[in-house]
Amino acid sequence: MAEGNAQAVPSGTLWERDAELAAVTAAVDGLCEGHDTGGLLVFTGEAGIGKTAVLGEVERVAAGRCTVWTARGGETVTSVPFHVVRQLLQPALVSLGPVEAREYLGDWYEIAGPALGIAQPGGRQVDPQGVVDGLVAAVSRLVMLHWPLILIIDDAHWADQESLRWLAAFAQRLDDLPVLLVVAHRDGEATGDSARHLETVGRAARPGTSLAT
Ligand SMILES: Nc1ncnc2c1ncn2[C@@H]1O[C@H](COP(=O)(O)OP(=O)(O)OP(=O)(O)O)[C@@H](O)[C@H]1O
Ligand SMILES: [Mg+2]
Repeated sequence: MAEGNAQAVPSGTLWERDAELAAVTAAVDGLCEGHDTGGLLVFTGEAGIGKTAVLGEVERVAAGRCTVWTARGGETVTSVPFHVVRQLLQPALVSLGPVEAREYLGDWYEIAGPALGIAQPGGRQVDPQGVVDGLVAAVSRLVMLHWPLILIIDDAHWADQESLRWLAAFAQRLDDLPVLLVVAHRDGEATGDSARHLETVGRAARPGTSLAT
C-alpha cells in the first residue's frame, strides 16, 4: 500500500490520528476489496497514547467485511508458552477436529500441533526453530482457509517469548498471504529476546504506523 493510496478517514472518534486512521482504512480496504494482499501495521507508543483505541478502529472499519481474530499479551501470562498465538487462532482451532487439523496442517501437524494445543507431543524432540517454521506454515494454511483475514495482537510487549518468536518470523513472510497483521506494543517495555523479536516485527512494518509523539 503506497501512502498516496490512503482513502478518506472513516468517521471515527479519535483526535489527531488522521495519519494512522488513513493507514488503517487503506490497509483494510485493500485487503477486503482484494486490491492488496494485506501486510503489516505496527503501532507503538507509551502507555495511554491510544494504541488500543486505534486497534478498535481496525475492527470497526473491518466489521462485516473481513474475518478478524484478536489476541493480547498479558502481564501475568508472559511465561505461558504459545499463549498469544493460541489465543489468536482460537476461532479456527476450536472448529477443527483432529482429522481436519491433520488434513489442513499436513506435514506440519506433528510439529505445530502440540504448540497450538491440538495434538499431543510426539516422541521426537523438535528444535525451537523447527517449531517456529511449523507454526509459520500452519498459520499460513489457516489464513488460506479464512481469507481475507485480519490478525490483531495488542500489548505484544507482554506476549510470551514463543509467540513473539513466531510473530517475528511470520511478519517477514506476509508478502503473498491475504492477511493483514496489526500489532501494538508499548515502547521500551519489552527486554532481551522479546525486544529483539519486536524490533524485527517493526522493521517489516509499513511507514506511518507509529503513535509516538
Ligand atoms: N486520539 C484519541 N482521541 C480520543 N480519545 C483517545 C485517543 N487516544 C486515546 N484515547 C483514549 O485514551 C484512553 C487510553 O487509550 P488506549 O487505551 O488506547 O491507550 P494505549 O496506548 O492502548 O495504552 P496501554 O499501553 O496502557 O495499553 C482511552 O480511553 C482511549 O479511548
Ligand atoms: Mg492498550
